[in-house]
Amino acid sequence: MAEVRLFSSKAYDRDGFDAANRQHGHDLTYLETRLGPDTVDLAVGAPAVCVFVNDDVSAPVLEALVAGGTSCVALRCAGFNNVDLDAAKRLGITVVRVPAYSPNAVAEHTLALILALNRRIHRAYNRVRDSNFALDGLVGFDLAGKTAGVIGTGKIGTIVARLLWHLRCRVLAVDMYQDPHLVDLGVEYVDLDRLIADSDIISLNCPLTSDTHHMISTDAIDRMRDGVMIVNTGRGALVDTEAVIEGLKSGKIGSLALDVYEEESRLFFEDRSHQILDDDVFARLLTFHNVLITAHQAFLTREALDAIATITLDNISTVLAGGECPNTVDPG
Ligand code: NAI
Repeated sequence: MAEVRLFSSKAYDRDGFDAANRQHGHDLTYLETRLGPDTVDLAVGAPAVCVFVNDDVSAPVLEALVAGGTSCVALRCAGFNNVDLDAAKRLGITVVRVPAYSPNAVAEHTLALILALNRRIHRAYNRVRDSNFALDGLVGFDLAGKTAGVIGTGKIGTIVARLLWHLRCRVLAVDMYQDPHLVDLGVEYVDLDRLIADSDIISLNCPLTSDTHHMISTDAIDRMRDGVMIVNTGRGALVDTEAVIEGLKSGKIGSLALDVYEEESRLFFEDRSHQILDDDVFARLLTFHNVLITAHQAFLTREALDAIATITLDNISTVLAGGECPNTVDPG
């Protein structure tokens, strides 16, 4: 049994963690506070901390964690772009993550965004509630027969590609590894330039790396089909937000769905409805009727939360017992 402090935790995290912890008996402390240089003192004395996508796990934070007696940082998510892995290695602190919890959850949310945005469900919902039954401005397109491009066919992108194929889209994909099952299905692996040029819908399902940062740039948008739909459930900085705003203003981009945003750490996961929105770029995005934004909720299903809790506590118990954890993240 060990003390585990869970940063950035919410009410919806507790059920899964409390249930999974019956197997482990750890002393769990749920903190709403985000981990960062100013809050790292809250970890003092805990051998393990558990963090989420927007916690700051930079070198100074890791140094303070080690000084306070922490030896394990457990990410309760798949992505680890918020962790300085080189610093963790240098300091001898083990970083573990949950590589897969429910790729279905994220893939299904991606499809939900595509369908809702295309058929303007977000606008129709508000209109009908206001007794406005006019249909002007709600025209969508048939997905059947359209070309959908999936960038990154890992655990999530593979399911997105399958779902789109079953909706009778022609599906193009970009990845350095080809999934043979997708190839058998009829998905065509192409290079990024071809996917960008030929797709009516582009779904981003690759990780954020130095190679993929701002892959949706002004130059890429210029080469897209007129009226293209872009859907990002990967990581915010895959998209150059200023560039997509220009694309939306010119009409080149027909619609945009985002579950992630490059400056989301200043906004998402909190109720800010009583505050003034001081992010002018995000505020501009909200003015477009053809933009649909959810606040990093693609993972949020009961099944995913339960799996996250189970795997995270298994990871922590393994590391603290001195075992080899298969979900350890190395700098590579
Ligand atoms: P994965 O590691 O199974 O798949 C990622 C795929 O992207 C791999 O096949 C990899 O080869 C490919 N890839 C890497 N660089 C690429 C590039 N430059 N161009 C094309 N493909 C490239 O990861 P998984 O589980 O499918 O997750 C994908 C991403 O989804 C995560 O990195 C994370 O950022 C995001 N995510 C978002 C969530 C949300 O709630 N919105 C929840 C979970 C993950």
